[in-house]
Amino acid sequence: MSLPSDVKTLPGGTFNMAEDLTVTRMGYGAMQLAGPGVFGPPADRDAAVSVLREAIELGITHIDTSDYYGPHFTNQIIKEALHPYGDDLHIVTKVGALRDAQGGWSEARAPQQLRQAVYDNLRNLGLDALDVVNLRMGGTGSPTPGSLAEPFSVLAQLAQEGLIKHLGISTVSAEQVAEAQAIAPVVCVQNYYNIAHRADDNLIDSLAAQGIAYVPYFPLGGFSPLQSDTLTSVARRLDSTPMTVALAWLLQRSTNILLIPGTSSIAHLRDNVKGAALTLSEDDLAELNGIAS
Ligand SMILES: NC(=O)c1ccc[n+]([C@@H]2O[C@H](COP(=O)([O-])OP(=O)(O)OC[C@H]3O[C@@H](n4cnc5c(N)ncnc54)[C@H](OP(=O)(O)O)[C@@H]3O)[C@@H](O)[C@H]2O)c1
Repeated sequence: MSLPSDVKTLPGGTFNMAEDLTVTRMGYGAMQLAGPGVFGPPADRDAAVSVLREAIELGITHIDTSDYYGPHFTNQIIKEALHPYGDDLHIVTKVGALRDAQGGWSEARAPQQLRQAVYDNLRNLGLDALDVVNLRMGGTGSPTPGSLAEPFSVLAQLAQEGLIKHLGISTVSAEQVAEAQAIAPVVCVQNYYNIAHRADDNLIDSLAAQGIAYVPYFPLGGFSPLQSDTLTSVARRLDSTPMTVALAWLLQRSTNILLIPGTSSIAHLRDNVKGAALTLSEDDLAELNGIAS
């Protein structure tokens, strides 16, 4: 499938995260563009560049990234593929972790580490200011109780300095969202959520009521791709695929959900954009809602 570049009606339409920040609800997660284990360069850099350019060609205006993907390689490839960026493109990044020499992930939320991470994102993306920076809290997948006030205040200070336009938070609880909101406006929350993993149902509804975007990571299961007989049978009945039904379900779950599925494949990118347009009936939804119970 190929859509002309002036088509703005991607599945789900658009979402206003802030006055100067409208994105297509169908976005793209760039994590899969780095090498194996999100470490090192991709085997085929030209292919990675092509996937990014295709995302823009399809009309996507929201790319999710981090400078710790690679590290650095993913952002450098985004810059190579897309710089100078179109006015309507918004690149959302995140800080709060570092990679060690073996590719391991460690916390990096000290003030100087956060400041350095923002500088690294600016340099590698070729920007003067970052549209959105998410503060990564928690472990892989689930929030860790505790205060985020100190690191989030550092990002709020960097926003006041003009290096960041908007702030978000990632892998956080409802309590941590409220704590962050008392320090500075939060335009998005990025947590682990998909059709089979629905711990955040209440949080999504509360953010929707406040007009705040909820951006599920691992929308397709991430490193453990979604596997469900129900998903497979519904997809077969609708002449679709399990992955695209999972994306369509997310778009229908709540209007504040933004999709950032990751892929290193142009074919999968096109499938995801086309497939997410599927309209699921009440019966389909009832059946699919049983997956998580
Ligand atoms: N805030 C955080 O802590 C955090 C954590 C993890 C991820 N993220 C963000 O969330 C984004 C999405 O997460 P993710 O990429 O880890 O996981 P995901 O989107 O759930 O799944 C990506 C996997 O699905 C495969 N895939 C994609 N489309 C497919 C299709 N149509 N058919 C079959 N397989 C398909 C990809 O393989 P192929 O490459 O072969 O298509 C890849 O292995 C990331 O890119 C990143 O930007 C944020």
